[in-house]
Amino acid sequence: MSTAKKEYKRITTKSLVEMKRNGEKIAMLTAYDYTMAKIVDHAGIDVILVGDSASNVMAGHETTLPITLDQMIYHASSVIRAIDRCLVLVDLPFGTYQGNSRKALESAIRIMKESGAHAVKLEGGEEIAESISRILTAGIPVMGHLGLTPQSIYKFGTYTVRAKKEAEAKQLKKDAILLEKLGCFGIVLEKVPAKLAKEIAESIRIPVIGIGAGSGVDGQVLVTHDMLGMTHEFNPRFLRRYLDLYTEMNGAFKQYIEDVKSVDFPNEKEQY
Ligand code: KIV
Repeated sequence: MSTAKKEYKRITTKSLVEMKRNGEKIAMLTAYDYTMAKIVDHAGIDVILVGDSASNVMAGHETTLPITLDQMIYHASSVIRAIDRCLVLVDLPFGTYQGNSRKALESAIRIMKESGAHAVKLEGGEEIAESISRILTAGIPVMGHLGLTPQSIYKFGTYTVRAKKEAEAKQLKKDAILLEKLGCFGIVLEKVPAKLAKEIAESIRIPVIGIGAGSGVDGQVLVTHDMLGMTHEFNPRFLRRYLDLYTEMNGAFKQYIEDVKSVDFPNEKEQY
């Protein structure tokens, strides 16, 4: 049974703001390739995030820092070819927008032009306000990302919960209000105390999508490979696993190897 309050043929940035207004939670997942995006979109997801987590999940890097703009465009264009309904949001990778708003605009334009994506996401608040404004003036929708911002991992030193102290919580609230004022259509809030996340969501009109930010926000996002249980090493408290695909796939691969070696596969019906 669908819990949607209104049926949308296509999700736009306006639909997401409307969903918040109507009290309908927004469901967002990552995808980096055509096949996964098709399954996720057909299931009825509202937003696919082509996250720079592709750097970890697809390429096996320890952080999100190494992924390039060309690689993000490749992933995003594969996702775009798969979808019928959802909004496709793409991360601007590390080094393509910080400290230079002209470069930020060029990076965002490349994503929109070369992949066909619908919006971009940038990590940070006040320190990247100029880049956000410049991208917005070109008519490109922007989603912010506050709290734990993985592109700054070497500044934080760890992936622990952010904004537990008053000063950081105050700055976070200020940044969220600023992002709304600049014209962002939403904010991802990562790994912050649930009470603070709820307060922020209630203080602005644009949707706040949480990951490790509790249930008081306007929607949730997870990395698809994590929620499917394909990854085993990553076990944060906020992660709910809906399948144990690692075990399922491992069993299937083992069975295939066994069948090939024992000449059980292919059988009479599986050959010409
Ligand atoms: O890159 C990503 O997958 C993200 C989510 C964790 C929000 O930014």
